[in-house]
Amino acid sequence: MQILLTGATGFIGAALSQALLADGNNLIILSRRAYTDRPRCRYIQSLDEIAGRTRLDAIINLAGASLAAKRWSAAYKREIVASRLDLTRHLLALCRRLEHCPPVLLSASAIGYYGHHGDDVLTETSPVEPGFAQTLCSDWESLALQAESLGMRVCLLRLGVVLDSDGGALSQMSKSFSVGVASWLGSGLQWLSWVHRKDVVRALLFLLDREDLHGPFNITSPAPITSREFAAALACHYRTFIRAAVPAPVIRLLVGDMAQELLLNGQRVVPQRLQAAGFEFFYPAIESALDEIYADQTTLRTRNSSG
Ligand SMILES: NC(=O)c1ccc[n+]([C@@H]2O[C@H](COP(=O)([O-])OP(=O)(O)OC[C@H]3O[C@@H](n4cnc5c(N)ncnc54)[C@H](OP(=O)(O)O)[C@@H]3O)[C@@H](O)[C@H]2O)c1
Repeated sequence: MQILLTGATGFIGAALSQALLADGNNLIILSRRAYTDRPRCRYIQSLDEIAGRTRLDAIINLAGASLAAKRWSAAYKREIVASRLDLTRHLLALCRRLEHCPPVLLSASAIGYYGHHGDDVLTETSPVEPGFAQTLCSDWESLALQAESLGMRVCLLRLGVVLDSDGGALSQMSKSFSVGVASWLGSGLQWLSWVHRKDVVRALLFLLDREDLHGPFNITSPAPITSREFAAALACHYRTFIRAAVPAPVIRLLVGDMAQELLLNGQRVVPQRLQAAGFEFFYPAIESALDEIYADQTTLRTRNSSG
Protein backbone atom coordinates (compact mmCIF):
# COMPACT_ATOMS: atom_id res chain seq x y z
CA MET A 1 0.00 0.00 0.00
CA GLN A 2 1.05 3.63 -0.46
CA ILE A 3 0.11 5.63 2.63
CA LEU A 4 0.25 9.36 3.32
CA LEU A 5 1.23 9.87 6.95
CA THR A 6 1.32 13.13 8.92
CA GLY A 7 2.89 13.38 12.39
CA ALA A 8 5.23 10.52 11.41
CA THR A 9 8.09 12.19 13.27
CA GLY A 10 6.14 12.22 16.54
CA PHE A 11 5.87 9.77 19.45
CA ILE A 12 3.11 7.63 17.92
CA GLY A 13 3.95 8.33 14.27
CA ALA A 14 7.57 7.15 14.58
CA ALA A 15 6.48 3.76 15.93
CA LEU A 16 3.66 3.51 13.40
CA SER A 17 5.85 4.34 10.42
CA GLN A 18 8.35 1.64 11.49
CA ALA A 19 5.54 -0.91 11.63
CA LEU A 20 4.08 0.20 8.28
CA LEU A 21 7.50 -0.03 6.60
CA ALA A 22 8.13 -3.44 8.18
CA ASP A 23 4.81 -4.59 6.65
CA GLY A 24 6.10 -3.62 3.19
CA ASN A 25 4.13 -0.38 2.69
CA ASN A 26 5.41 2.74 0.92
CA LEU A 27 5.08 5.97 2.87
CA ILE A 28 4.72 9.59 1.88
CA ILE A 29 5.51 11.57 5.02
CA LEU A 30 4.40 15.17 5.45
CA SER A 31 6.63 17.09 7.85
CA ARG A 32 7.39 20.75 8.50
CA ARG A 33 11.08 19.84 8.48
CA ALA A 34 13.14 18.72 5.46
CA TYR A 35 14.32 15.11 5.52
CA THR A 36 16.23 13.03 2.98
CA ASP A 37 14.13 10.29 1.39
CA ARG A 38 14.79 6.70 2.49
CA PRO A 39 13.88 3.46 0.72
CA ARG A 40 10.04 3.32 0.44
CA CYS A 41 9.83 6.60 2.38
CA ARG A 42 9.34 9.91 0.59
CA TYR A 43 9.30 13.12 2.62
CA ILE A 44 7.30 16.18 1.58
CA GLN A 45 6.86 19.57 3.23
CA SER A 46 3.68 20.51 1.38
CA LEU A 47 0.71 18.50 0.10
CA ASP A 48 1.14 20.42 -3.20
CA GLU A 49 4.08 18.09 -3.86
CA ILE A 50 1.62 15.23 -4.39
CA ALA A 51 0.69 14.97 -8.08
CA GLY A 52 -3.00 14.63 -9.01
CA ARG A 53 -2.48 11.18 -10.51
CA THR A 54 -0.90 9.76 -7.31
CA ARG A 55 -2.70 6.73 -5.92
CA LEU A 56 -2.93 6.74 -2.12
CA ASP A 57 -4.35 3.65 -0.42
CA ALA A 58 -4.79 5.45 2.91
CA ILE A 59 -4.20 8.70 4.77
CA ILE A 60 -3.25 8.64 8.46
CA ASN A 61 -3.40 12.06 10.08
CA LEU A 62 -1.60 12.35 13.42
CA ALA A 63 0.00 15.81 13.25
CA GLY A 64 -0.76 18.61 15.68
CA ALA A 65 0.91 20.89 18.21
CA SER A 66 1.23 19.07 21.54
CA LEU A 67 -1.44 19.85 24.15
CA ALA A 68 0.96 19.25 27.00
CA ALA A 69 4.14 20.95 25.73
CA LYS A 70 3.41 24.51 26.83
CA ARG A 71 1.05 26.60 28.94
CA TRP A 72 -2.28 27.19 27.21
CA SER A 73 -1.82 30.88 26.40
CA ALA A 74 -4.37 32.33 23.97
CA ALA A 75 -1.71 32.21 21.22
CA TYR A 76 -0.75 28.60 21.94
CA LYS A 77 -4.40 27.53 22.05
CA ARG A 78 -4.77 29.03 18.56
CA GLU A 79 -1.73 27.03 17.41
CA ILE A 80 -3.12 23.80 18.91
CA VAL A 81 -6.39 24.32 17.04
CA ALA A 82 -4.97 25.63 13.75
CA SER A 83 -2.30 22.90 13.49
CA ARG A 84 -5.08 20.29 13.47
CA LEU A 85 -8.01 21.95 11.68
CA ASP A 86 -6.00 23.66 8.93
CA LEU A 87 -4.09 20.49 8.07
CA THR A 88 -7.29 18.44 8.01
CA ARG A 89 -8.83 21.01 5.62
CA HIS A 90 -5.73 20.73 3.40
CA LEU A 91 -6.02 16.93 3.42
CA LEU A 92 -9.67 17.19 2.35
CA ALA A 93 -8.65 19.53 -0.48
CA LEU A 94 -5.98 17.01 -1.53
CA CYS A 95 -8.55 14.18 -1.59
CA ARG A 96 -10.82 16.31 -3.82
CA ARG A 97 -7.88 17.11 -6.13
CA LEU A 98 -6.60 13.53 -6.58
CA GLU A 99 -7.83 11.62 -9.65
CA HIS A 100 -8.32 8.57 -7.40
CA CYS A 101 -9.75 9.49 -4.00
CA PRO A 102 -8.02 7.46 -1.23
CA PRO A 103 -10.40 4.86 0.24
CA VAL A 104 -9.69 5.49 3.94
CA LEU A 105 -8.74 8.23 6.40
CA LEU A 106 -7.58 7.43 9.95
CA SER A 107 -7.78 10.71 11.82
CA ALA A 108 -6.36 11.29 15.29
CA SER A 109 -8.50 12.63 18.09
CA ALA A 110 -8.34 12.14 21.85
CA ILE A 111 -10.44 10.98 24.77
CA GLY A 112 -10.57 14.69 25.65
CA TYR A 113 -13.49 14.51 23.17
CA TYR A 114 -15.78 13.50 26.07
CA GLY A 115 -14.86 16.26 28.54
CA HIS A 116 -15.04 15.63 32.30
CA HIS A 117 -17.42 12.92 33.62
CA GLY A 118 -16.01 11.95 37.02
CA ASP A 119 -16.34 8.18 37.61
CA ASP A 120 -18.70 7.48 34.68
CA VAL A 121 -17.51 4.78 32.29
CA LEU A 122 -17.25 6.35 28.83
CA THR A 123 -17.85 4.49 25.57
CA GLU A 124 -17.92 5.87 22.03
CA THR A 125 -21.60 6.82 22.44
CA SER A 126 -21.25 8.69 25.75
CA PRO A 127 -22.37 12.33 25.90
CA VAL A 128 -19.86 15.18 25.99
CA GLU A 129 -19.15 17.91 28.54
CA PRO A 130 -17.79 21.20 27.18
CA GLY A 131 -14.16 22.33 27.53
CA PHE A 132 -11.24 23.46 25.37
CA ALA A 133 -10.03 19.93 24.50
CA GLN A 134 -13.62 18.77 24.00
CA THR A 135 -14.39 21.51 21.46
CA LEU A 136 -11.04 20.94 19.74
CA CYS A 137 -11.63 17.19 19.32
CA SER A 138 -15.25 17.67 18.32
CA ASP A 139 -14.37 20.23 15.62
CA TRP A 140 -11.44 18.09 14.42
CA GLU A 141 -13.61 14.98 14.15
CA SER A 142 -16.45 16.85 12.35
CA LEU A 143 -13.98 18.11 9.78
CA ALA A 144 -12.41 14.67 9.25
CA LEU A 145 -15.88 13.16 8.80
CA GLN A 146 -16.41 15.43 5.77
CA ALA A 147 -14.22 12.91 3.90
CA GLU A 148 -17.21 10.53 4.05
CA SER A 149 -18.97 12.73 1.51
CA LEU A 150 -16.10 11.88 -0.89
CA GLY A 151 -16.84 8.18 -0.42
CA MET A 152 -13.99 7.62 2.04
CA ARG A 153 -14.09 5.39 5.10
CA VAL A 154 -13.21 7.51 8.15
CA CYS A 155 -11.98 6.15 11.50
CA LEU A 156 -11.66 8.62 14.37
CA LEU A 157 -8.88 7.66 16.77
CA ARG A 158 -9.90 8.73 20.28
CA LEU A 159 -6.52 8.15 21.86
CA GLY A 160 -5.95 7.81 25.59
CA VAL A 161 -2.68 8.57 27.37
CA VAL A 162 -0.12 6.67 25.30
CA LEU A 163 2.71 5.04 27.28
CA ASP A 164 6.13 3.85 26.18
CA SER A 165 9.74 4.27 27.24
CA ASP A 166 11.06 6.93 24.88
CA GLY A 167 8.88 9.98 25.31
CA GLY A 168 5.19 10.78 25.60
CA ALA A 169 3.41 11.18 28.92
CA LEU A 170 5.44 8.55 30.81
CA SER A 171 8.66 10.56 30.55
CA GLN A 172 6.90 13.42 32.39
CA MET A 173 5.00 11.19 34.81
CA SER A 174 8.09 9.26 35.88
CA LYS A 175 10.31 12.29 36.61
CA SER A 176 9.66 12.44 40.36
CA PHE A 177 9.93 8.62 40.62
CA SER A 178 13.45 8.72 39.23
CA VAL A 179 14.48 10.94 42.17
CA GLY A 180 12.77 8.71 44.73
CA VAL A 181 9.33 10.32 45.00
CA ALA A 182 6.25 8.29 44.05
CA SER A 183 3.76 11.05 43.31
CA TRP A 184 0.24 11.47 42.03
CA LEU A 185 -1.69 14.55 41.06
CA GLY A 186 -4.28 16.21 43.27
CA SER A 187 -6.63 13.73 44.99
CA GLY A 188 -5.21 10.88 42.91
CA LEU A 189 -8.76 9.62 42.45
CA GLN A 190 -9.08 10.92 38.87
CA TRP A 191 -9.11 8.27 36.15
CA LEU A 192 -6.21 7.64 33.83
CA SER A 193 -7.19 5.96 30.57
CA TRP A 194 -3.81 4.78 29.39
CA VAL A 195 -2.71 2.55 26.49
CA HIS A 196 0.63 0.98 25.53
CA ARG A 197 2.03 2.48 22.31
CA LYS A 198 2.47 -1.02 20.85
CA ASP A 199 -1.28 -1.57 21.21
CA VAL A 200 -1.92 1.84 19.60
CA VAL A 201 0.13 0.83 16.57
CA ARG A 202 -1.63 -2.55 16.42
CA ALA A 203 -5.03 -0.87 16.70
CA LEU A 204 -4.22 1.50 13.82
CA LEU A 205 -3.09 -1.41 11.61
CA PHE A 206 -6.29 -3.26 12.59
CA LEU A 207 -8.48 -0.29 11.59
CA LEU A 208 -6.54 0.15 8.36
CA ASP A 209 -7.12 -3.47 7.47
CA ARG A 210 -10.77 -3.84 8.47
CA GLU A 211 -12.78 -2.28 5.64
CA ASP A 212 -16.04 -2.81 7.54
CA LEU A 213 -15.06 -0.45 10.38
CA HIS A 214 -15.64 3.30 10.51
CA GLY A 215 -16.54 6.06 12.98
CA PRO A 216 -15.09 6.76 16.45
CA PHE A 217 -12.88 4.26 18.30
CA ASN A 218 -11.59 4.71 21.83
CA ILE A 219 -7.95 3.64 21.77
CA THR A 220 -7.41 3.02 25.46
CA SER A 221 -6.66 -0.13 27.40
CA PRO A 222 -9.74 -1.98 28.71
CA ALA A 223 -8.62 -1.28 32.31
CA PRO A 224 -8.36 2.42 33.16
CA ILE A 225 -6.96 3.11 36.64
CA THR A 226 -6.83 6.03 39.01
CA SER A 227 -3.84 8.34 39.16
CA ARG A 228 -2.99 6.89 42.58
CA GLU A 229 -3.17 3.30 41.30
CA PHE A 230 -0.88 4.31 38.45
CA ALA A 231 1.62 5.75 40.95
CA ALA A 232 1.60 2.45 42.87
CA ALA A 233 2.19 0.45 39.67
CA LEU A 234 4.98 2.76 38.50
CA ALA A 235 6.65 2.69 41.94
CA CYS A 236 7.37 -1.02 41.35
CA HIS A 237 9.94 0.05 38.74
CA TYR A 238 11.81 2.63 40.85
CA ARG A 239 13.38 2.77 44.27
CA THR A 240 11.15 5.38 45.86
CA PHE A 241 11.43 6.72 49.40
CA ILE A 242 8.50 9.09 49.66
CA ARG A 243 4.88 8.83 48.53
CA ALA A 244 3.19 12.18 48.07
CA ALA A 245 0.42 14.01 46.28
CA VAL A 246 1.23 17.09 44.24
CA PRO A 247 -1.55 19.38 45.52
CA ALA A 248 -4.01 20.62 42.89
CA PRO A 249 -3.31 24.36 43.57
CA VAL A 250 0.42 23.72 42.96
CA ILE A 251 -0.34 22.01 39.63
CA ARG A 252 -2.62 24.91 38.61
CA LEU A 253 0.17 27.36 39.49
CA LEU A 254 2.78 25.38 37.56
CA VAL A 255 0.93 24.62 34.34
CA GLY A 256 -1.99 27.05 34.30
CA ASP A 257 -5.26 26.34 32.45
CA MET A 258 -4.38 22.89 31.20
CA ALA A 259 -4.07 21.56 34.78
CA GLN A 260 -7.76 20.96 35.29
CA GLU A 261 -8.60 19.47 31.89
CA LEU A 262 -5.52 17.37 31.23
CA LEU A 263 -4.24 16.45 34.68
CA LEU A 264 -6.82 16.84 37.43
CA ASN A 265 -10.12 15.78 35.84
CA GLY A 266 -9.25 12.49 34.17
CA GLN A 267 -11.58 10.20 32.25
CA ARG A 268 -12.65 6.59 32.62
CA VAL A 269 -12.78 5.43 29.01
CA VAL A 270 -13.16 1.89 27.65
CA PRO A 271 -12.46 0.65 24.08
CA GLN A 272 -15.93 -0.78 23.51
CA ARG A 273 -16.00 -0.63 19.69
CA LEU A 274 -12.46 -1.97 19.19
CA GLN A 275 -13.14 -4.93 21.45
CA ALA A 276 -16.55 -5.57 19.85
CA ALA A 277 -14.75 -5.70 16.49
CA GLY A 278 -12.44 -8.43 17.84
CA PHE A 279 -9.31 -6.40 18.65
CA GLU A 280 -7.24 -7.95 21.43
CA PHE A 281 -4.88 -5.88 23.55
CA PHE A 282 -1.38 -7.26 24.12
CA TYR A 283 -1.19 -5.09 27.26
CA PRO A 284 -4.64 -4.92 28.87
CA ALA A 285 -3.33 -4.31 32.42
CA ILE A 286 -1.01 -1.56 33.62
CA GLU A 287 1.34 -4.06 35.33
CA SER A 288 2.05 -5.98 32.10
CA ALA A 289 2.39 -2.73 30.12
CA LEU A 290 4.94 -1.25 32.56
CA ASP A 291 6.79 -4.58 32.83
CA GLU A 292 7.25 -4.52 29.04
CA ILE A 293 8.22 -0.85 28.96
CA TYR A 294 10.81 -1.21 31.73
CA ALA A 295 12.00 -4.70 30.71
CA ASP A 296 15.13 -3.63 28.86
CA GLN A 297 15.99 -0.66 31.02
CA THR A 298 18.46 -0.33 33.82
CA THR A 299 15.86 1.24 36.09
CA LEU A 300 15.84 -0.16 39.61
CA ARG A 301 13.04 -2.68 39.91
CA THR A 302 12.87 -2.72 43.68
CA ARG A 303 9.34 -2.68 44.98
CA ASN A 304 8.76 0.26 47.27
CA SER A 305 8.35 -1.21 50.72
CA SER A 306 5.85 1.50 51.65
CA GLY A 307 3.81 1.10 48.48
N1 LIG B 1 0.62 10.74 22.76
C1 LIG B 1 -0.54 10.74 23.42
O1 LIG B 1 -0.61 10.30 24.60
C2 LIG B 1 -1.79 11.25 22.73
C3 LIG B 1 -3.01 11.20 23.44
C4 LIG B 1 -4.16 11.66 22.83
C5 LIG B 1 -4.10 12.18 21.55
N2 LIG B 1 -2.93 12.23 20.88
C6 LIG B 1 -2.90 12.83 19.53
O2 LIG B 1 -2.29 11.93 18.62
C7 LIG B 1 -1.50 12.68 17.69
C8 LIG B 1 -0.08 12.10 17.70
O3 LIG B 1 0.41 12.17 19.03
P1 LIG B 1 1.97 12.16 19.35
O4 LIG B 1 2.10 11.97 20.82
O5 LIG B 1 2.68 11.25 18.43
O6 LIG B 1 2.33 13.67 19.01
P2 LIG B 1 3.78 14.37 18.93
O7 LIG B 1 4.86 13.46 19.37
O8 LIG B 1 3.64 15.68 19.61
O9 LIG B 1 3.96 14.58 17.34
C9 LIG B 1 3.02 15.25 16.58
C10 LIG B 1 3.62 15.64 15.27
O10 LIG B 1 2.82 16.72 14.78
C11 LIG B 1 3.65 17.64 14.10
N3 LIG B 1 3.45 18.98 14.69
C12 LIG B 1 3.83 19.40 15.91
N4 LIG B 1 3.51 20.69 16.09
C13 LIG B 1 2.91 21.08 14.96
C14 LIG B 1 2.37 22.31 14.52
N5 LIG B 1 2.39 23.41 15.30
N6 LIG B 1 1.84 22.35 13.28
C15 LIG B 1 1.82 21.26 12.49
N7 LIG B 1 2.34 20.06 12.85
C16 LIG B 1 2.86 19.99 14.07
C17 LIG B 1 5.10 17.24 14.26
O11 LIG B 1 5.55 16.73 13.02
P3 LIG B 1 6.65 17.53 12.14
O12 LIG B 1 7.59 18.18 13.10
O13 LIG B 1 7.28 16.42 11.36
O14 LIG B 1 5.90 18.49 11.29
C18 LIG B 1 5.04 16.16 15.33
O15 LIG B 1 5.95 15.13 15.08
C19 LIG B 1 -1.55 14.14 18.11
O16 LIG B 1 -2.46 14.82 17.30
C20 LIG B 1 -2.04 14.08 19.54
O17 LIG B 1 -2.82 15.21 19.90
C21 LIG B 1 -1.75 11.77 21.44
